[in-house]
Amino acid sequence: SQVKEYIKKGQVTVNDQIIKKPETKVNEETDTVVCQGQPIHYRKYVYYMLNKPEGVVSATNDNTAPTVVSLLTVPEQKDLFPVGRLDKDTTGLLLLTNDGALAHDLLSPKKHVDKTYLVKPEKGLDIGDEKPTAPSKARLTENGDLLLTIHEGRFHQVKRMLQAVDNQVLTLERVSFGPLSLDLSLQRGEYRALTEEEIEVLSAAGKKS
Ligand code: URA
Repeated sequence: SQVKEYIKKGQVTVNDQIIKKPETKVNEETDTVVCQGQPIHYRKYVYYMLNKPEGVVSATNDNTAPTVVSLLTVPEQKDLFPVGRLDKDTTGLLLLTNDGALAHDLLSPKKHVDKTYLVKPEKGLDIGDEKPTAPSKARLTENGDLLLTIHEGRFHQVKRMLQAVDNQVLTLERVSFGPLSLDLSLQRGEYRALTEEEIEVLSAAGKKS
């Protein structure tokens, strides 16, 4: 509706001609579209980082709860899907895109793209020498929480790993996905587009095997 406004005001040109009809067809490869003096480039694929809040499901549709897609009020909303899932009660870094090939690559267990979770365990973690060793990429934070990095994405994997050592997850937040860390300026429920550089490093992470 905003674009219609710009068009009505004569602020949009196609090949240097002011257009008046919002339904004007353009060829995204060959036509030059300028809005308010700014050249507009068509983007087939878009990439967003969401700081997922609790109570929202990682799906495109759901009858019982709001979805992560419903949080993004962007023009491409109906084409977006989350790159993998976080549980309804898990918070943190979730990527949303319309780039199916990259999403597929990033989720492939063969690509070993790391995801790191900040886990608040129910009980203190016993890391005494007589106990079984922790997973290789686990680190305790100063306040006794666990930073756990996994590259598979098995169903409820982190919660099940904690259960396997007689513990429980109290809260779970994803703090990184491959080369990207959660942008801490995003409040829960907020999102932003990835920068060109972030898209590049993410694509590279999806290409390695
Ligand atoms: N592991 C879980 O148990 N839940 C998540 O949301 C992500 C990883």
